[in-house]
Amino acid sequence: MATSSPAQRIGVVGYGHLGQYLVERILKEGAGLGLTLAFVWNRNSDKLKGSVPAELILDDLSAFADRRCDVIVEVCHPKIAKDFGSHFLSQAHFLVGSPSALSDPELNHKLRQAAERHGRTLYVPSGALWGGQDIQRLSDSGALKAVFVRMSKHPSCFRLTGDTLSDWTEGEGRRVLFSGSVADLCPLAPNNVNTMAAAAMAAGTLGFSGVRGEIVSDTALRDYHVVEVEVTGVNGFSVRTVRRNPAQLGAVTGSATYNSFWSSLLVCKGHGGRVYLC
Ligand SMILES: NC(=O)c1ccc[n+]([C@@H]2O[C@H](COP(=O)([O-])OP(=O)(O)OC[C@H]3O[C@@H](n4cnc5c(N)ncnc54)[C@H](O)[C@@H]3O)[C@@H](O)[C@H]2O)c1
Repeated sequence: MATSSPAQRIGVVGYGHLGQYLVERILKEGAGLGLTLAFVWNRNSDKLKGSVPAELILDDLSAFADRRCDVIVEVCHPKIAKDFGSHFLSQAHFLVGSPSALSDPELNHKLRQAAERHGRTLYVPSGALWGGQDIQRLSDSGALKAVFVRMSKHPSCFRLTGDTLSDWTEGEGRRVLFSGSVADLCPLAPNNVNTMAAAAMAAGTLGFSGVRGEIVSDTALRDYHVVEVEVTGVNGFSVRTVRRNPAQLGAVTGSATYNSFWSSLLVCKGHGGRVYLC
């Protein structure tokens, strides 16, 4: 007699835009897809009351192991990967929604090691990155020479540390805010560069300091974000993609990225003790 495998248990850390989206979809569609919600944590648990069943609310994140998860998804803040990433990987696969955290070489190393040691997968969502797996394959084959990612958005869509963009005015047009290594860019715009961080993880041979990134403010981009990726390989190989990601004015995350994130979660079935772009 055929036996069906038990549902995959998902823990969601963070209940902002992405967290709410994922929780709602797991509750609505999870049963048909073999997914079940094991817990939801938010630093302010009042936000969860009324919308998440009480038995699924986790008050103390350090008690996450009691919920026996197969996958833990961070959709919160890079700090969570830093404080809990290796603990999560000791118990479950870990989908790191804020991969800009991995620009810290020490944390990057620690999480790779934890994945290897425990045989669990550190998943990096592709987000708005097109062709991430192709970049990873090129890197793995030793044929990758350079990766450049430019993200252009309306100024209201940027959340920068410092006051780089405090003086923008409607109609001013295009302004390059930063151009340089993704390693230097991540601390400057941690919420805007997850896609570039995914590119840096895919391009393992180049890493965060070798992948170049540029962020551009453009008041003409009222309805979408633009993500351009230029990849250079050996013997004159090159690829250039331009992605238009529909987004509401002021939104950090493009609407297509929510769907992309959901697709990433569905990939997290276990790919061994390593990093896997999904
Ligand atoms: N990988 C991707 O493609 C991608 C796409 C969108 C967002 N993100 C990242 O995912 C995370 C969540 O995005 P979002 O759009 O849902 O953001 P959001 O601001 O809507 O929600 C973030 C949630 O985390 C909480 N939070 C913020 N800082 C915290 C901290 N230091 N400690 C504990 N909790 C904290 C907030 O209270 C909120 O509930 C962000 O880090 C964002 O950069 C990644």
